[in-house]
Amino acid sequence: MTNTELLTTVSVRNLHKYYQVVDKKYNIISGLNFEVKQGDIVSVEGASGVGKSTLLNILGAMDSFDEGSVEVCGVSLGNLNERQREVFRAERISFIFQQHLLLPDFTAIENVMMPLLISKMNPALARESAKEILGLVGLGERLESFPSQLSGGESARVGVARALVGKKQLILADEPTGNLDRENSRHLMDLIKDLQSEFKFSLILVTHDMELASMAHKRNRIESGKLTPVN
Ligand SMILES: Nc1ncnc2c1ncn2[C@@H]1O[C@H](COP(=O)(O)OP(=O)(O)OP(=O)(O)O)[C@@H](O)[C@H]1O
Ligand SMILES: [Mg+2]
Repeated sequence: MTNTELLTTVSVRNLHKYYQVVDKKYNIISGLNFEVKQGDIVSVEGASGVGKSTLLNILGAMDSFDEGSVEVCGVSLGNLNERQREVFRAERISFIFQQHLLLPDFTAIENVMMPLLISKMNPALARESAKEILGLVGLGERLESFPSQLSGGESARVGVARALVGKKQLILADEPTGNLDRENSRHLMDLIKDLQSEFKFSLILVTHDMELASMAHKRNRIESGKLTPVN
């Protein structure tokens, strides 16, 4: 890997994405360019329905695109088959969602271990890593709690721990504080920021929340299918 590849986490050129609904074609993303450097925190803002989640899903190889080039962590996403997409996701990126999507039948620590076990890490090592990161998010005493026994804010922190446990290069967060009250949102934001300055991952933050967006190093909004800087 060259130095330039290391420095650029996301490089999107002239991206187009269409949705076909019955006989009508909607051009959701039209000629979007986007660049994220290693260690950047970047916001993607914009009105409901402009394509923020669509963009995030494309970057996470969860969704296809129609034109342009998308390179994430040195991998060109245009020509990957399903298996290669899975490997890409397992090795390079994590998602943090509004709904934290914890597995209800597994404890906090088991939820956090899950991505490591999927990547075939030794279970004892996976447990150690999960324990360490749950300690960092302030849940060292709640390792064996089930999601139903955790508050909204605590569940959100388990979701963050699960996203960070594999020490990925890029975290994609879609309204991560969407379900939380002000105080818990602030707490989660501070936590993400602290962990980012420790682990130096790149973070793309989709949000309507101006306070959350203000933690970004660079702010952007999607408008008319394109990404423009917010001044
Ligand atoms: N599978 C699909 N088929 C057709 N249209 C879709 C599909 N998924 C999304 N869309 C449309 O694409 C547009 C962008 O959706 P997207 O979910 O990216 O918006 P968003 O900016 O994340 O909105 P919000 O802030 O409400 O989450 C919307 O108009 C949506 O209805
Ligand atoms: Mg969305």
